[in-house]
Amino acid sequence: MEISLILKLSQLYFTFSFLQVTRCVFFVFAFGLVGCLKAMENRPYHHLPDGGFRNPEGSPERSASTKWSYWVFNREKKKLDMKIGEGHAVEVQKVLERLGQSQGEDYVLWIGHATFLMKLGDTTLITDPFFSQNAGPFLFGPKRYVQPAIPLNKLPKVDLVLLTHNHYDHLDLPSLTKFPSKESKVLVPLGLSRYFVKRDFKDVSELDWYENVQIDKDLKITFLPAVHWSKRTLIDTNKTLWGSFLIQHKGKKIFFSCDTGYGPIYKKLGDSYGPIDLTFINIGAYDFRPMFDHSVYHTTPEEALMVARDLNSSKVIGMHWGTVVLSLEPIMEPPIRFKKFAGNYNFQTEDAIVMPIGGLELFSQLLR
Ligand SMILES: [Fe+2]
Repeated sequence: MEISLILKLSQLYFTFSFLQVTRCVFFVFAFGLVGCLKAMENRPYHHLPDGGFRNPEGSPERSASTKWSYWVFNREKKKLDMKIGEGHAVEVQKVLERLGQSQGEDYVLWIGHATFLMKLGDTTLITDPFFSQNAGPFLFGPKRYVQPAIPLNKLPKVDLVLLTHNHYDHLDLPSLTKFPSKESKVLVPLGLSRYFVKRDFKDVSELDWYENVQIDKDLKITFLPAVHWSKRTLIDTNKTLWGSFLIQHKGKKIFFSCDTGYGPIYKKLGDSYGPIDLTFINIGAYDFRPMFDHSVYHTTPEEALMVARDLNSSKVIGMHWGTVVLSLEPIMEPPIRFKKFAGNYNFQTEDAIVMPIGGLELFSQLLR
């Protein structure tokens, strides 16, 4: 009698305990689900549930008919006239002399492609440092046809590195490995710090769109959206972020654009952050015919002018051309179209600026 009572009580106890555990599991699951839904609700548009990223709302998208062919690209590339325009590149010795003479000034020097060295007060910064011979893994990828304006080991001390995205012509790992100023501060999009940390950079910060960093009392950097994408391998498309940098120095605003296509985001950025004094933007890598008509992720020279106009920019410098063949437009065409059509977008011809590789401009002239 006593034993059967004990058995019954134990049965009741276990049933009760089981119900309690089930209830607990249910509550934990329900709270977790609500938490997840809440997090999804609060997630910015450009963050995807799988941890990847996408362009701002309303941006153009690559059409399904866009077909890249390595074979067609190489066949068409061979037809390009590779004659470099006169005065397109300044001799290294002359660049080094001019750089030495300009150390007391604020300046910008075009090293090639999207790589610019800028001095702003006490800070010397470099954008997307690409010094390699190829824009690709190992010795693959398009070969550069104009050498960097100065070799990597002749760079002055760099305090700040700004990286826009992970494509090989921007995130150039051999340049990072040999980079002479590892103590410099580095600002990168979400997901890209590991490349720098692995190469012994000491001060690396990842930024999401609209985040900013005050470098010193005169210099503030804000990371902003661009219409582009990211990829380095077969399995990492859009897994890391991309974006542009707004550089604010002593009341002046410089917009350093990531590779970008045209999109409605630029009117919004112009309203929120404009007027801009000077915009750097891609004017090359737009023509991929006969594979497809138009790149939605790189502006034509005219679209670059539209972006600069939407940002309410006083002046605009064309970059990302004249260094390495990434597309099929004639290699010296981008600056011609850029200057020719400047007036259609409310720019004086002299305010649509084309620099030679190795050209150095003083900010006291550019930011007047
Ligand atoms: Fe890119």
